[in-house]
Amino acid sequence: MKSILYLFALLLFACESSNSSVEEVSIDATMMDQGTVVVMDQMLVDQMVEVDQAIPMNWTPPHIEDLVSLEDLNMDPNIVEYELTAKEVDLQIDQGRPFTLWTYNGLLPGPVIQAKVGDRVIIHFRNELSEPTTIHWHGLRISDQMDGNPRIQTPVQPGETFTYDFVVPDAGTFWYHPHVRTNEQIEKGLYGAFIVHNPEEIGLFAKERVIFLDDILLDQFENIAPEYSSFPERMRGRYGNRLLINGKLDTFKSATSAQQHSTERWRIVNPANARVMFMRIPDVEYSVIGTDGGRIEPYQQDILELGVGTRFDLSVKLPTSGDHILNIGIPFLDEQGNIQTDWLDAYTVDTQANDQTPSDVVLPAPPVIDHRMPTENFEIVLDAVEDPVTQVRFLVNGESHPQAPLFTYPKGTTVKIKIKNLIGPPHPFHMHGQFFEIVPNNNPETHLPGLKDTVLLPGLEEIEIIAYLDNPGRWMLHCHVLEHSELGMMSEFVVTDPNQPQP
Ligand code: C2O
Ligand code: CU
Repeated sequence: MKSILYLFALLLFACESSNSSVEEVSIDATMMDQGTVVVMDQMLVDQMVEVDQAIPMNWTPPHIEDLVSLEDLNMDPNIVEYELTAKEVDLQIDQGRPFTLWTYNGLLPGPVIQAKVGDRVIIHFRNELSEPTTIHWHGLRISDQMDGNPRIQTPVQPGETFTYDFVVPDAGTFWYHPHVRTNEQIEKGLYGAFIVHNPEEIGLFAKERVIFLDDILLDQFENIAPEYSSFPERMRGRYGNRLLINGKLDTFKSATSAQQHSTERWRIVNPANARVMFMRIPDVEYSVIGTDGGRIEPYQQDILELGVGTRFDLSVKLPTSGDHILNIGIPFLDEQGNIQTDWLDAYTVDTQANDQTPSDVVLPAPPVIDHRMPTENFEIVLDAVEDPVTQVRFLVNGESHPQAPLFTYPKGTTVKIKIKNLIGPPHPFHMHGQFFEIVPNNNPETHLPGLKDTVLLPGLEEIEIIAYLDNPGRWMLHCHVLEHSELGMMSEFVVTDPNQPQP
């Protein structure tokens, strides 16, 4: 069995070696003009009190190209309040007939949630699906009570509601999705972007985009194939047979517009069940300016590899007019057994000529990472065994979905975790509620800078991460190949708060 998996790993992991070089980008702190603000708080509405400086200016979230952003229902400039409903709808994702999908607010991807760093976010959620669900806010370091862990939050039953209420501590590109029968619920369309802005960066780019690089598995009748429809789906996770980019199938050829000489911010998310997404934008200059945990020092790399759940923020310069196309790479074995990559058109930007002069976007410096030295060591082993019922069962340190936490440390602990992959396919290893850094190693694919919440661990390899356990609570850790986590590769850990003893 392992040799089959190893072949999958090889096949899936094949990637042309990426050229990387470090770009010099001038970083300068630009301050926004903070004027006088009129607060329209409900209690103050009659008095129309003018408040100076104490409250940040009433902000307007940027327009996100192509996607619908939720409308903030709260007048307070430091609170955003939204309504979100999970429901089945028929949606046109192709030129042809509509598809029956599970969506947030009837949209695929779900509506973009926007907030600025430090905001209180209130989300009134209603479940109109025929089965229970929760929402997990992937990457947000919020309270564990609001994290969508179905062992903490009783899943929201059909017809019921739940109000998520939390404060967002970090700026960055995050996303939201269910955490109940996750393989099925995400595949059917339940996911959306959650952007937390640094207000100093709003308005610097000509346009902001969020691009979800997804795939979907359709059967011969062009319906979404039932879950676990093949043995390989259990082994390596569900690989789709069609690309689904921002909710449109690959055959839906449409282009979005841009201006020549403009610089845009593209936030790229991989919400697929299992597929590692290789992407490039030929003939366009772009640099990576952010990752899971927010902004980083910019660097350039031609081919980017996104494990499931991971994000890249790109600064994209559109120097020439015409079509610029984001490609997705699909590795395959040729007849000689060599790994090749097919590059498919995924997302087209039709760039209009004009006589603007090119100008550089000057970004504020990224937050400084406090690289703390680990004081603890832990080892995690990912493996699998055959199972009489599910055929295969995936393991974290020998157990599937154990009740007891894998480890418990007090808040503020820095722990070096070695993660070993003993079973073929790559595993995007994800920790809830915390950030970590990847320890530099000899593999340019896994050595990524910045704060992460998910790291792609190649088949039969090992990596080390340094986890900053700063957010107390009871948290999940799991492989983000959704079939792997559903079939057992999921565990929990606890971060204790000395001021709040465990119940
Ligand atoms: Cu996207 Cu448990 O995570
Ligand atoms: Cu996995």
